[in-house]
This record gives sequence, structure tokens and C-alpha cells, in this order.
Amino acid sequence: MGKEVLAANWKSNMTLREMISWVNGFRRQMETQSQTDFGEKTIIVCAPFTLLLPLQEKIAGLVLPIEVGAQDVSPFDSGAYTGEVNAAQIKEFANWVIIGHSERRKHFGETDEVLAQKVNQARLVGLKIIYCVQDEATPVLEGVEVVAYEPPSAIGTGKPDTPENANSVAQAIRQKFPYVTSVLYGGSVKPENVGAFVSQKFISGVLVGGASLTPDSWFKLVTA
Ligand code: PGA
Repeated sequence: MGKEVLAANWKSNMTLREMISWVNGFRRQMETQSQTDFGEKTIIVCAPFTLLLPLQEKIAGLVLPIEVGAQDVSPFDSGAYTGEVNAAQIKEFANWVIIGHSERRKHFGETDEVLAQKVNQARLVGLKIIYCVQDEATPVLEGVEVVAYEPPSAIGTGKPDTPENANSVAQAIRQKFPYVTSVLYGGSVKPENVGAFVSQKFISGVLVGGASLTPDSWFKLVTA
């Protein structure tokens, strides 16, 4: 296993002003807690498209150990696809992308076929993918290395899976899809329970929604 991955998913939250205040708040936490070295941790913030550039600039300006990710990508190349943001456009400002989040499957009708196109587009430009599945039965395409296991019943409900069950699903995913090198757990992860998940043998990190929305809670979680 490589570095522990701690990925924030801001979903459809944060304005420009709120993002700036979040990053300043995170830096303040680093200063007051004298913690600037996250050594074996990869910290990622997956932001709305409108914030990718300013977030990247803000993080670079303050030299923070945070990588930028998007939350979705067009299944198509550049061209006449009104409203879509393509992989090459994302790659200018981010090096990660979430694909197949259950909210995209549910509210936007994304199918395994469309998700395969998205994976293909992301891979063509070298975006690193966090591919979300709801269980070990969800297909994972070849070439995907990082998977997030997120049971829908645990997302935003305050009712996480048990670390033991998440670990056995993670193990099953690794066995079934040998090209997957890391499985993250997502669904009601908080500063209080993150340790119980990342200490499991087959869990390499977490994908976090609600608890990533304030810098204090996110700082607590990444330093827990
Ligand atoms: P949650 O969301 O942490 O708010 O449960 C996780 C996710 O949807 O990625």
C-alpha cells in the first residue's frame, strides 16, 4: 500500500469567498497546531469546477500540502457538448477526478457505460481517478487504481458502515479487480471514526463529504 489517501468531496458546496476562507482556516490550523508535515498522507480536495483554478492558486500561494481534484468529467473529448467540462480542461487545474459517485448515478442517470467513457477520457490525459462503487458487485474498469467503497445508506446519514465490513468489502474488491491498488472508504466519516477505518488492513484512506466542509473538522480528520 502507498500513502494514506484522505480525499474531501465538497459536492455542490462552496462559493469563491467560502473557499478562500476555508483554505485560510486550514492554514491557521496548521500554524496553531505546528503541523506542516503530512508525510505519509495524500490530502486531496475535490471541488466544484468553478473553484478548481482559484483553489489551485490559493494552495500554491500558501504552499499547502493539498492536491486538487474535480468531482466529475465529461464522457466526451472537446467539442459540441454544451455544459460539459472535459478531461483536458480539468487537467489544467487538477490531477484527480471522482468518477461514478452514487449521487451522479442516482440524480444524473449515469450508467456503467457512461462511466466507462469517463474513465477512458480521464486516463487519456493522466488524471488520477477515484472510482466510486457501492459494493463489490459494482464493476470496476481496468486501469482504475483507486476505488472508493461508499454504501449509499452511509452517505450523509451519520450511519457509517462498520470498519470490519468495509474492510471485507475492500478485500473483495482488491481480489476481484487486481489492478485496483487502493480502496478508500466513504460514508459518514468523521474525525472520531476515521482512525477505525484507515487502520483496517485493506482500507487505504477515506472519501469525505460533510466533515470536509469546515477547515477545522477537515484538519481534525486529517490529523486524527
Ligand atoms: P459523507 O459523504 O461523508 O457526507 O457521508 C461521503 C461522500 O458522498 O463521498
